[in-house]
Amino acid sequence: MPEQRLRPETVVVSAGRPPHVPSGPLNEPVTFASAFVAGGDLEYARYGNPSWTALEDALGALEGGECVSFASGMAAVSAVVALVEPGSAIVVPQHAYQHTLALLDGEAAAGRLEVRRVDIADADAVEAAMPGAAMVWIESPTNPALEVADIERLAASARAAGALSVVDSTFATPLLQRPLGQGADVVVHSVTKLIAGHSDVVLGAVVTDAPELAERIRHHRGMHGAIPGPMEAFLAVRGLRTLAVRLERASANARELAVRLRAAPGVVEVRDPGFGTVLALVLEDAAAADRVVERVRLWIPATSLGGVESTLERRRRWATEAPTIPEGLIRLSVGIEHIDDLAADLLGALAGARVV
Ligand SMILES: Cc1ncc(COP(=O)(O)O)c(C=O)c1O
Repeated sequence: MPEQRLRPETVVVSAGRPPHVPSGPLNEPVTFASAFVAGGDLEYARYGNPSWTALEDALGALEGGECVSFASGMAAVSAVVALVEPGSAIVVPQHAYQHTLALLDGEAAAGRLEVRRVDIADADAVEAAMPGAAMVWIESPTNPALEVADIERLAASARAAGALSVVDSTFATPLLQRPLGQGADVVVHSVTKLIAGHSDVVLGAVVTDAPELAERIRHHRGMHGAIPGPMEAFLAVRGLRTLAVRLERASANARELAVRLRAAPGVVEVRDPGFGTVLALVLEDAAAADRVVERVRLWIPATSLGGVESTLERRRRWATEAPTIPEGLIRLSVGIEHIDDLAADLLGALAGARVV
């Protein structure tokens, strides 16, 4: 049965498996190899490995394009940024993953790129910044502000302006958002997050339905060498198998938690993009937010997100986070635990934080 006829919840389970042959393994095994016997498709392992192929086949089928996997989300981001010629302009969200912004700022400081920062949720402002740009970088929802972009509109206007449109779809996963189907040229994922889903690997992926772009991205990976480890690729595929059920549970938890948090004393704002598993809880200042992070017991204070376990972090504890992110903003990565336990721990920490 061709993959495209299957629903995404099925594809996460079925794609990237070896052929169904008697005595064959159900899962693509981990292939530890630096070289393969000459004469076939695989020769040197910086250019290919069957364990990567399983992950790439699955993510490609889900996003509707060709996937090139990388050693990290940042390696994927870097490979995509390298598609534009030196001297080009890139339209970039004012809030996005802080090191995507830092990478672009570094390129700008070195005189290699012009960076045009916009509010990615304001489509008119994004379009106004497009003339002459080579690339429009969309992150949606954004990390950690949780702004949501109109991908279909921005992809169409980027194309009309002669710019490539790229969507970092890490927070949405291929199950909640399919940017290529909405007209975008390239999708980027930090596979580290929800796709792998267990906080035990760092990996990235680029997916595009333009063969020429896929070829350039693949060439970049081979030359720069930020290749996935086979064990990491295996773990990511294993995590992907349960993405649909993890997402269903964690998303339901996130929506319910947003409602309960809004009713809690001391809460200035709860940001909920309405889908996905990440929320932002805004308290009055850094000290209040730090007290909550110190008081939780079940929630784990940690950076990163998208694991089965719930984690939280005050984002401005990083000096590199955008100054327009409130000092009291706590990013919540909602996991698959019981909602009542998650809510009790967080609401208890909020109440405790107010008495000191
Ligand atoms: C939206 C987003 N894109 C990219 C990255 C970078 O991915 P990695 O940490 O896998 O390099 C992150 C990491 O937090 C992220 O949140």
